[in-house]
Amino acid sequence: PWRTCQKRGCHVLRSLSWSRRLPVPSEQLFMEMAEVMATEGWRDAGYEFVCIDDCWMAPTRDRQGRLQADPKRVPSGIRRVAQVHSKGLKLGIYSDVGNKTCAGFPGSYNHYDLDAQTFSSWGVDLLKFDGCNSDTLELLAEGYRHMSLALNKTGRSIVYSCEWPLYLRPMQQPNYTEIKQYCNHWRNFHDVYDSWSSIKTILGWTALHQDTIVKIAGPGGWNDPDMLVIGNFGLSWDQAVTQMAMWAVMAAPLFMSNDLRHISPDAKWLLQNKEVIAINQDPLGKQGYQITKDMNFELWERPLSGQAYAVAVLNQQEIGGPRNFTFSLTLLGNGLACNPACSVRQVLPASRDWGFYSWVSSLSVEVNPTGTVLLKVVAP
Ligand code: GAL
Repeated sequence: PWRTCQKRGCHVLRSLSWSRRLPVPSEQLFMEMAEVMATEGWRDAGYEFVCIDDCWMAPTRDRQGRLQADPKRVPSGIRRVAQVHSKGLKLGIYSDVGNKTCAGFPGSYNHYDLDAQTFSSWGVDLLKFDGCNSDTLELLAEGYRHMSLALNKTGRSIVYSCEWPLYLRPMQQPNYTEIKQYCNHWRNFHDVYDSWSSIKTILGWTALHQDTIVKIAGPGGWNDPDMLVIGNFGLSWDQAVTQMAMWAVMAAPLFMSNDLRHISPDAKWLLQNKEVIAINQDPLGKQGYQITKDMNFELWERPLSGQAYAVAVLNQQEIGGPRNFTFSLTLLGNGLACNPACSVRQVLPASRDWGFYSWVSSLSVEVNPTGTVLLKVVAP
């Protein structure tokens, strides 16, 4: 509504300065990552944003009240980092609706217009706006609205990523119609961590709330289940496949949080997989949902353009080996997905054509523990 959506991938670097295993965010790190994105296929796969998360600011504003970058971490300033534009990339930045960011750096409260102008003058293309340290829910809502209007007033196209519903939820039901008027995507649930239990919890929350959140998603405004953690330490191969497949089914904005300079060929193949990304970015813009849950299997579908459906079968049973799930094609698309017949192609964990099926057929799918088989079903 307010801005045209530029939902493409986004490479995000979080400020994990407390971890020894992960690099401290710095200007040099952002530039190195941008170089890898431009030269190793990431940008061409659709990941076009380099996003700076919390902790980039100096502890105080400058004399004119403007936010300024930490002189040690970003000595040349954010405007210089925005030169990622010359590599065909875009720049994302982070701020907070309250007095302080979650990590205690200056927040945008009382400075919404000035900060929007500053970001725009630096050449920023995306703002992640966090919700820590806001005194009341009313101030939180006003702040999210105000910043949206302030970004629009700059005249620069800036994707607006919110955490409004996440911070409202414990006390208040979010009004998603309103949130979509102001935000391009919004976090509903806790931060993702590099672990299977985190991925599982996010999927469980999403299925539980699908009646409220699925219908609101569409071009211009998306539910954001948080970043892809594929390519780090915590997920097995099957779990990484599950995250990629399910983030595509959920029409999630694709932000990676990893170190692209040191990533396995398998993780790279998965994250750059064109067929999965095409499902994620499908122009119909409908979010998928869970159809049934049975014997620790979950069956999800996402309606796609061209009378097609993405279908995911997730095996939630963590013990034992691969198990078979058999389901009737009449379960898909309210019985219409395969009427009178359809072609079935497996997209993940490896691509393979399965051939044609009539609408009364059943499919039997073998799925590894915590893994997912992602199919694309097309009615001819
Ligand atoms: C959290 C937010 C995270 C991250 C962090 C930074 O509140 O949900 O995504 O940005 O703050 O301090």
